[in-house]
Amino acid sequence: MKFFIDTANLNDIREAQGLGILDGVTTNPSLMAKEGITGTDNILKHYVDICNIVEGDVSAEVNATDYEGMVREGEQLADLHPQIVVKLPMTKDGVRACKYFSDKGIKTNVTLVFSAGQAILAAKAGATYVSPFVGRLDDISTDGLNLIQEIREIYDNYGYETEILAASVRHTMHIVNCAKIGADVMTGPLSAILGLLKHPLTDIGLAQFIADYQKGNQ
Ligand code: G3P
Repeated sequence: MKFFIDTANLNDIREAQGLGILDGVTTNPSLMAKEGITGTDNILKHYVDICNIVEGDVSAEVNATDYEGMVREGEQLADLHPQIVVKLPMTKDGVRACKYFSDKGIKTNVTLVFSAGQAILAAKAGATYVSPFVGRLDDISTDGLNLIQEIREIYDNYGYETEILAASVRHTMHIVNCAKIGADVMTGPLSAILGLLKHPLTDIGLAQFIADYQKGNQ
């Protein structure tokens, strides 16, 4: 399973990249705003900064809601850097724009996906990635991981090449369960990724090893 980090925070991206386990980055307008990155020029520059830190795909989201606007904005984003993936919302215009970009060989990520039906449409439109939001479904008492499982089954039935990018991942068990189900990619915050490191027996065992090593060196 590929690991993407879901943030526009350059320090978090650098830290995950430094670990050597990062495969890409996803962002959205809310994550940009959270970092105080506003205004088109600043946002475009920030995408390039992110691409210069990581080696993998970097999803950059369009803000237009109409087909022509999405195509215009998506082309501008794709021209920024070869690592850019054009992120489009799951709407009628977004699906049309996805087909436009996939026909041109430009990578796409269809976002705000909350049902298996929407995921089928994204695959039919040739999306590179489909982003079902696990955490936001959990937030409304619906099993977000169940959606990942449904999409996995449907995509496998037909050999769809669209990669399932489990998004809105919030914690370590989301990551572990996405891996068990067979999501192609997960994207989550640095805290969820670093959470995978934690086990009290590792800490206790390491403290013991250090203590025993020091006995022999006193
Ligand atoms: O990848 C989608 C993500 O940014 C949404 O996450 O935690 O705001 O639901 P969250």
